Amino acid sequence: MGIRKAVIPVAGLGTRFLPATKSLPKEMLPLLNKPAIQYIVEEAVSAGIDDVLLITGRLKRAIEDHFDRIHLVEKHLEMSGKTELLRIVVEPAGLANLHYIRQPEPRGLGHAVLQARWHVGKEPFALLLGDDVYQGDPAAISQLIAVHEETGMSVVGVLPVSMAETGRYGIADFGPEDANPAKGPVLARDFVEKPDPEEAPSNWAIMGRYVLTPDIFEALEETPKGRGGEIQLTDALRTLARRGRVCVVALQGERYDVGDPVSFVKSTIAMALRDPAIGPEIRDFVTALLAEGVRQAAAAAEEPGAEKRA
Ligand code: UTP
Repeated sequence: MGIRKAVIPVAGLGTRFLPATKSLPKEMLPLLNKPAIQYIVEEAVSAGIDDVLLITGRLKRAIEDHFDRIHLVEKHLEMSGKTELLRIVVEPAGLANLHYIRQPEPRGLGHAVLQARWHVGKEPFALLLGDDVYQGDPAAISQLIAVHEETGMSVVGVLPVSMAETGRYGIADFGPEDANPAKGPVLARDFVEKPDPEEAPSNWAIMGRYVLTPDIFEALEETPKGRGGEIQLTDALRTLARRGRVCVVALQGERYDVGDPVSFVKSTIAMALRDPAIGPEIRDFVTALLAEGVRQAAAAAEEPGAEKRA
């Protein structure tokens, strides 16, 4: 069966981005002029999906408002003849059939996905995390859908990370020894949530894109609270992997993470530099800043006593 539905969980607390996320959902943080969540809905739509379920929570109403009409602003733009601005303001409301379910409390990504059970029913579905934006052609989720259509399995998108970073991600265990998710889909043996480097089975990390078969819901029901007292999606994926029902494949394209301030700044700079309209101006700005930094460092090194201080 083709993939008709997408689930996007956006109910997390965004603690890594406090205090900005005290009242602003992190999924509403903008990359250039668009909130992250809009890129993600657009990605699902580009893969032919028009039924999108957002798992939302308290303090996340701004997301629903973004995908709604705003007549006061529209009228103002219409009267002042700003037709392009009017178009981009109206656009999000017509992107897809959007549905919302609340996760009553943020009890983990696995628990958030479980809220989608009755909406999704007995069909495979796409899962896109609300703080990872991908750009590329084909879209990240389309790459996974193609693998699902070939294999009929659940498919998990992965990217390599440095061994020092394994403790921040769900890490895939796969075989045989020479298997390489960059060369095509490989069968997953297991997954480990945020392992220390010495316990990590590989350096391939789960990166926010999945196609899941509906047996994930039974696996989630049976999953006890894991790391951090939360129901972890990675733990439910282990159950399916041990049945030989999951494969992993490297995601192609650019990834922009808005989940914490450092990643967000890097993502903003990278996207701005790649943007044909503003890229040259941003490049000049960054180059001048770097040159200023070099000049200041050189001046400090020449100051009397600098050697002693160093
Ligand atoms: P994260 O772990 O990145 O989000 O979950 P978080 O919990 O909001 O972030 P920090 O660690 O506290 O800063 C990935 C995605 O899953 C959603 C989040 O909204 C995010 O888009 N999520 C997470 C839920 O919907 N419910 C949860 O209970 C946890």
